[in-house]
Amino acid sequence: MKKILRNLILTVLFSPFLAFSQSQIVPFPYEIQKEITADSAVVVSAHPLATKVGIEILKQGGNAIDAAVAVQFALAVVYPRAGNIGGGGFMIYRDYLGNSYALDFREKAPAAATEKMYQDSLGKVLPKLSKYGALAAGVPGSVDGMWEAHKKYGKLRWGALVMPAVELADKGYQITESEAETLNQERLIFAQNCSFTPAFVKMGGWKAGDWLIQKDLAETLRRIAGDGRDGFYAGATVKLIQREMEKKGGLITAEDLENYHSVWRKPHEFDWNGLHIVSMPSPSSGGLLLHQMLGMVSDYPLKKYGFHSAEAVHLMAEAERRAYADRSVHMADPDFYKVPENGLTDPEYLRKRMSTFNPDTATVSMDMTAGYIKESEETTHFSIVDKDGNAVSITTTLNDSYGSRTVVGGAGFILNNEMDDFSAKPGTPNLYGAIGGKANAVAGNKRPLSSMTPTIVAKDKKTWLIVGTPGGTTIPTSVYQVIINLSLFDMSLSEAVQAKRFHHQWKPDQISIEEGCFAPDVITKLEAKGHTVTERSAIGRVEAIIRLSDGKWQGVADERGEDSAKGY
Ligand code: GLY
Repeated sequence: MKKILRNLILTVLFSPFLAFSQSQIVPFPYEIQKEITADSAVVVSAHPLATKVGIEILKQGGNAIDAAVAVQFALAVVYPRAGNIGGGGFMIYRDYLGNSYALDFREKAPAAATEKMYQDSLGKVLPKLSKYGALAAGVPGSVDGMWEAHKKYGKLRWGALVMPAVELADKGYQITESEAETLNQERLIFAQNCSFTPAFVKMGGWKAGDWLIQKDLAETLRRIAGDGRDGFYAGATVKLIQREMEKKGGLITAEDLENYHSVWRKPHEFDWNGLHIVSMPSPSSGGLLLHQMLGMVSDYPLKKYGFHSAEAVHLMAEAERRAYADRSVHMADPDFYKVPENGLTDPEYLRKRMSTFNPDTATVSMDMTAGYIKESEETTHFSIVDKDGNAVSITTTLNDSYGSRTVVGGAGFILNNEMDDFSAKPGTPNLYGAIGGKANAVAGNKRPLSSMTPTIVAKDKKTWLIVGTPGGTTIPTSVYQVIINLSLFDMSLSEAVQAKRFHHQWKPDQISIEEGCFAPDVITKLEAKGHTVTERSAIGRVEAIIRLSDGKWQGVADERGEDSAKGY
């Protein structure tokens, strides 16, 4: 009955004979909640259906890890531009006792990858090779990451956590207007990089309300539900990946898949302004950048300057500039390069970095390089807290929107283009404009440097904030600004998340801002100091949960997307 009613409503709403344009009449097909306050548990993710899956798992008695596994697989279906099984990511987990863990399920370069694989014989970078097609893909880590997290801390049966995703892929879900638009934009590029017509391409184009059904993906997910890790890294899925690599000239082999293992790492933890911050260590630059930027502004009266005042923005952007200059030289996969984590975050070093800060004048990036250390945009984030206070912060990615745009034939999932996060050649910018050096050069089995910053903040020893965002190199600056908004500018979580954001990454030498970010006189003052201020599209999509003073949890989903929060 419900189905008949739904179809009737859809027929009326989507009738071509209606005289309105679709953007006027098509309502969002799912309930979206931007803010929720709950007694027990909260899930915030980029898609309301994935959020719903997470909450259902928690209500069935699952813990935050169980919910995270289910959300990760659900996002792989309902948020194909970034949710994935063909990509990788990072997880910060803080249990109810206050123990913190970091799981690195970042993609790895295939064993056959080489330093100059994205250059021609004259050393010229061939940028398309690291962005599109099978050669752009690193060995995926997401399934192994979820398997590993569940093996150690999960409570419910593995299969039960994957099945909601199987169902969503098998039966399909209605896409929204923005999803229809992005899929239509990618149509040609999918056609160029796939060996067959994938489910993401529709003859005549997509429109809001269409059902996206992914039968091949459902089969792959079924194998994962039944066989766990082996459902992806052995057997039929491996054969399908190998076939795709042969057809499209990729490097990933059966051995690469078999040998892929996510790694439990020591989280990057530090204290700042009465808070204990737990974030992602290398091979993400996220935790280090966050530590550096917060450290660099801590000697200044930021609160007195005021939110988005020219003084505050100038100071914060100068800290960003210095941290990102360090990123370009000193940060990389710690299994291949000795990242000087202590040196980079030493308070004396940070003070020295700021000794060239001038409150009246912008530093020129060309004149400023990384500090000397003596010691040797499309991603997605979700935050979860369960009824016992276990908290999970996961950022996961295919890198670019829809990754390499290569769908594995017969397996239905998109491969990442994470290889572009390596530096194809020292000094050449990647797709986020980030400059990398020797430390982040391509090498077989190496993990590319990331900016993902899944973070959990404790106050008075209790989990206080669970936060993260997509956005490539803008990720650390977004997390940094949310923490400052909450901690120094006394904002509510909703104000802190929805506030306009800005970003400086050393090179290009500019402050990128969201539309309407600063008052005109603030821009004039920043320009007078020597900054170039450039407007750009939305920065990040923060999903955050905070503990309120009465002990309740509040979840906030970013208004920049169709993200949704739910709790009970
Ligand atoms: N692929 C974006 C990042 O890892 O930072």
